[in-house]
Amino acid sequence: MSYESFDLHEMSPACGGIIEGIDLSKDLTNRQFDEIHEALLERTVIVFRDQDITPDQQVAFARRFGEPQPSAVSGFEKSKDNPEIDILEYDASNPPHVTRDLWHTDFVGTERPTMGTVLYAKDIPPQGGDTVWVNMVAAYEALSDRMRAHVDGLWAYHDSYQPYSEFVRPEMYTADKGTDYIRDKRAQYVPALHPVVRVHPVTGKKGLFVNESMTSFIKDMDRRESDFLLRYLFDYLRTPEFNYRHKWQTNDLAVWDNRLSLHYALFDYTDHRLMHRIVIQGDVPHE
Ligand code: SIN
Repeated sequence: MSYESFDLHEMSPACGGIIEGIDLSKDLTNRQFDEIHEALLERTVIVFRDQDITPDQQVAFARRFGEPQPSAVSGFEKSKDNPEIDILEYDASNPPHVTRDLWHTDFVGTERPTMGTVLYAKDIPPQGGDTVWVNMVAAYEALSDRMRAHVDGLWAYHDSYQPYSEFVRPEMYTADKGTDYIRDKRAQYVPALHPVVRVHPVTGKKGLFVNESMTSFIKDMDRRESDFLLRYLFDYLRTPEFNYRHKWQTNDLAVWDNRLSLHYALFDYTDHRLMHRIVIQGDVPHE
């Protein structure tokens, strides 16, 4: 598809688009924004190169998609002047998580999982730190008819605290953020129940809606059946044909649609990496 306001370079058959010809430091016309939104729906993740914008401008751009929804669970530091912005910062003295990332959708363990994420690359290491996204519509459509019939109509629980277990993120259990801190928060928390196959609220397309980070159990299944099916789906979703891997440059700004995608940030660097992230509220998923 071509657009009047910019050029869109498709980055892989499944998803990913680089947009050229938009300066996010300037106010966008409704026409420009509508086309950006259209490109997001078409490509699942879009990236604008060479953007020189302030935190206020990032927040204003994110608000065109919806209300920001800062995470209470992730523990990322927030920007002082713009609490909508999570500061994701790592270097050799504060290396990325000691284990690998897990494929996930931002904040899926709530009744209304997020609509999207706006991530601004403030400083990128010379090597490493790529992000990979998966198009969950492509993944669903590539299942056999039999498997689609099997997963359609299933519901699964999503636990926001599962990725913060002491086995996944031991650093969450040190210093002031001790075991009690996580246990207390977790005790108040009710995992969310979402369809395993979700209908995108705008495009009407169906896609898989499970992820290895937070999806814990398929409702109405025996534990072994649930584990078996989830393990199969998590493995299936690693199929490279469904993904796009982005090599960041400083001043890239990416927007992705969390409603039918997964992503994975590679923790393979020790140089400084600084990202400003805004996550946008979504709606209740429907089957
Ligand atoms: C995220 O998981 O929301 C951030 C991804 C990244 O830092 O590349």
